[in-house]
Amino acid sequence: MITILAIESSCDETAAAVSRGKIILSNIISSQKIHEKYGGVVPELASRAHLQSIIPVVGEALKIANVELKDIDAFAFTQSPGLIGALLVGTEFAKSLALAFDKSLIAVHHMQAHVLANLIQHPQSENKIPSFPFLCLTVSGGHTQIIVCSSPLDQKIIGQTLDDAAGEAFDKSAKILGLPYPGGPLIDKYSKKGNPEKYHFPEPKIDGLNFSFSGLKTAFLYFIRDEKLKNENFVEENMDDICASIQSRIVSILLNKLKKASEETGIKEVCIAGGVSANSGLRTEFEKAGKEAGWNTYIPKFEYCTDNAAMIAITAYYKFLDSQFDDLSVVPSARTA
Ligand code: KG4
Ligand code: ZN
Repeated sequence: MITILAIESSCDETAAAVSRGKIILSNIISSQKIHEKYGGVVPELASRAHLQSIIPVVGEALKIANVELKDIDAFAFTQSPGLIGALLVGTEFAKSLALAFDKSLIAVHHMQAHVLANLIQHPQSENKIPSFPFLCLTVSGGHTQIIVCSSPLDQKIIGQTLDDAAGEAFDKSAKILGLPYPGGPLIDKYSKKGNPEKYHFPEPKIDGLNFSFSGLKTAFLYFIRDEKLKNENFVEENMDDICASIQSRIVSILLNKLKKASEETGIKEVCIAGGVSANSGLRTEFEKAGKEAGWNTYIPKFEYCTDNAAMIAITAYYKFLDSQFDDLSVVPSARTA
């Protein structure tokens, strides 16, 4: 069985995972808390924190998996997209290990990996895995895409955001409400007690399968500004309902396009992936939409939704099967190559 050590360091999580075949033996994530007080990720601080965490994180992943470095068949890492200094740490670390142990090296695309998190096999339960071709709504802090995945390594983007990503829509709304970064999980938390029908925000009219969130952000900003002029405690007094209402609109924008994509392609195997797929409102509404439309729906386990190295490992597994290896001249890329 192919054993892989994977490293993810594209943004503000230092992560390592060990996989054997399609099973994840360990999945370690160290989240960088240092960015909270700056209201967003500071690239240089991220690189430094990766340097500090990478050895302990990889050590822990090997220990939990009960695997030694000499047992690893391939070292995998996130090559793009992401913060260049952050990517560099994982890239050079994986390259050094591949060189030292004379094993294969596999570069992985972060967005492709988010999608393939849906193919991870859970050791204890026989989880169902999507059959090909499937649709995937990939929603993260930097991307919002609808993908047709015809095989693990054949993914085609059929819709994407023209401006902000869904995660940004959450985080920027949270910032307007005075909540710390990243605000997505906090909006999710307050929404659980709120009324999603209380306030109405516009759904943008965008052609085809593309998305736009910048108009919604502006509408939200003006709404909060105007309400605060009437009552300076408006946000504090109505936090739950405000969060539930904006979350409900972001979720409906995402799902309406996903339904359209399914109708247009005829594909009823449908997945979600990426950090925003951890959102409880999206998870519930996605399942509901799936029942209504007769889809088979798939959502990665919670810890495989936000940034993690298990998804890098499963992608590297399929690249290994297809003999897609890299040599030591490989370099990271901030943008999608
Ligand atoms: O995939 P991810 O961990 O990193 C990127 O590749 O960007 O996604 C991070 C994004 C952030 O915008 C974060 O606020 C959002 O995912 N996020 C959530 C939730 N958990 C993470 N948004 C809404 N609800 C959540 N529960
Ligand atoms: Zn991500």
